[in-house]
Amino acid sequence: MVQLTLPKGSQPKKGKTWPKPEGATKTREFKIYRYDPESGEGPRWDHYTVDTGDCGPMLLDALIWIKNRVDPTLTFRRSCREGVCGSCAMNIGGRNTIACTKGMDEFSGTITIAPLPHQPVVKDLVPDLTDFYAQHAYVQPYLQTETPAPEKEWKQSEEDRTKLDGLYECILCACCSTACPSYWWNGDKYLGPAALLQAYRWIEDSRDEMTGDRLDDLNDPFKLYRCHTIMNCAQVCPKGLNPAEAIAGIKRHLAEREV
Ligand code: SF4
Ligand code: SF4
Ligand code: FES
Repeated sequence: MVQLTLPKGSQPKKGKTWPKPEGATKTREFKIYRYDPESGEGPRWDHYTVDTGDCGPMLLDALIWIKNRVDPTLTFRRSCREGVCGSCAMNIGGRNTIACTKGMDEFSGTITIAPLPHQPVVKDLVPDLTDFYAQHAYVQPYLQTETPAPEKEWKQSEEDRTKLDGLYECILCACCSTACPSYWWNGDKYLGPAALLQAYRWIEDSRDEMTGDRLDDLNDPFKLYRCHTIMNCAQVCPKGLNPAEAIAGIKRHLAEREV
């Protein structure tokens, strides 16, 4: 398990223990990070008991149950509920993951839930991902060409298309970047595993004609070379992707260019 710290500057105090649901026969205990920066009060841990006989099996089901039945002020992001949008990413049981595809039965005892670590907190389980999205935009994650566009479509052989498997499936959840120690300490200069995975996805795309420019731009001690192959990124990715391998691929391209 990857042990992670909480958002910057937060040392939560013990908060409220909410009443147990009446008449519940099967329950689970939750310890959840609560913080509203506008309240003037520091972060706290609130304790909740969920009636698991009355809610779905996933962590996101439990959070929705708490919000609907116990505490409507609990704040978190979610949209698709099936591991596609990346919005319900959070730190569960000390590990970054997405709440909608994690079963409660994968955890024992009280389940601790906190926002993705080392990011400013907007409220409760919602981190401010402004920098993360800016880094994604920085790598220009779209097809760039110089030759005139074909009449119908840019074609690609089956073999070249296969090279993109494991690169294009990213759902931008930010689990990887916010689990990366290099990103924690140099998040203002290091692009982080998610953005670099996307950069590599376009470097590897046979249709893209900006490979040289893309590599030139990444050839920087901070943007790329802060990765020290610690591998937290690959361990936490809920889609089973391996950003560390992609980063190694970018470094390999740069090394080959220099010989
Ligand atoms: S392998 Fe690189 S990007 Fe992944 S967690 Fe380690 S330092 Fe960060
Ligand atoms: S590489 Fe995986 S962990 Fe990182 S943002 Fe994409 S889906 Fe999330
Ligand atoms: S709600 Fe979309 S990934 Fe969890």
